[in-house]
Amino acid sequence: MAKITVIGSSSMDLVVTAAKRPEAGETILGEDFKSVPGGKGANQAVAAGRLGADVYMVGCVGDDPYGKAIVSNLQANGVHTDYVKPVPDTASGTAHIILAEGDNSIIVVQGANKLVTPDLITDALPIIRESAMVLIQQEIPEDSVEHVSKLCKEYGIPLLLNPAPARKVRESVLSNASYLTPNETEARLIFGETSIKQALKANPNKLFVTEGKNGVRYHDGEIENVIPSFPVEALDTTGAGDTFNAAFAVALSEGKSLPESIRFANKAASISVTKFGAQGGMPSRDEVERGLLDEEKRNS
Ligand code: RIB
Ligand code: NA
Repeated sequence: MAKITVIGSSSMDLVVTAAKRPEAGETILGEDFKSVPGGKGANQAVAAGRLGADVYMVGCVGDDPYGKAIVSNLQANGVHTDYVKPVPDTASGTAHIILAEGDNSIIVVQGANKLVTPDLITDALPIIRESAMVLIQQEIPEDSVEHVSKLCKEYGIPLLLNPAPARKVRESVLSNASYLTPNETEARLIFGETSIKQALKANPNKLFVTEGKNGVRYHDGEIENVIPSFPVEALDTTGAGDTFNAAFAVALSEGKSLPESIRFANKAASISVTKFGAQGGMPSRDEVERGLLDEEKRNS
């Protein structure tokens, strides 16, 4: 079993389903409300856990009921929580999500996730050093992301940075990371003047631009490739990126080839969007493998 460490946010997702988004100054009636565990870090940890990896989460929660619920949910999904710190007098991270007109809009309030500091990460060094892969996102402070990238570089641990949500990424982080998985918006922000095409070419087998239902684009040193995604009827795309990243990390850490790993991750992500909630549809290992076999049968 591959040991994977996920360093990042854990939050409670407060999800309102409505027919439309309210305009500024407008009040409307919604259809439904649910609170479900989320946060990009915790989502990736849970996804990797369901896919059979031995997962360690490094993060912070508040000393509130959400924090307790977040930790027990991680544990229920087989994620080790020894490095998830409950912080006194602090609110857990929350994501305020509107699901309307077939898409989500999200406001993230970092709360305890702001306290995922370089020092807290250094405390987790024993487990980082034993990992086949470290996974990180951008719902924690920039200095912490940089610190992780330095530690991974120093100890030769492969680092997958999912640069979401969109923000600039420091040069040192870009160079220290082994894999980068921005979507198109994030890629444009990160590479600025450089076109995505040029950036792909300059970062062969390292930069993977995820284009949702259009698949994943990367350069293999010789040519640019697109690995298509699997078409599905999407019910809730929240967390699809997290499922993709976790599955990609699991497949890579097991030694699967790049195209194979992307196919595996695309299949996992396509299953995840068929159910409500970021973690709701995250598949088990078995579901992904059966899904891939079905594709083979369909194509033969
Ligand atoms: O990537 C999806 C996640 O982003 C949600 O679970 C929500 O917490 C937001 O931060
Ligand atoms: Na889902």
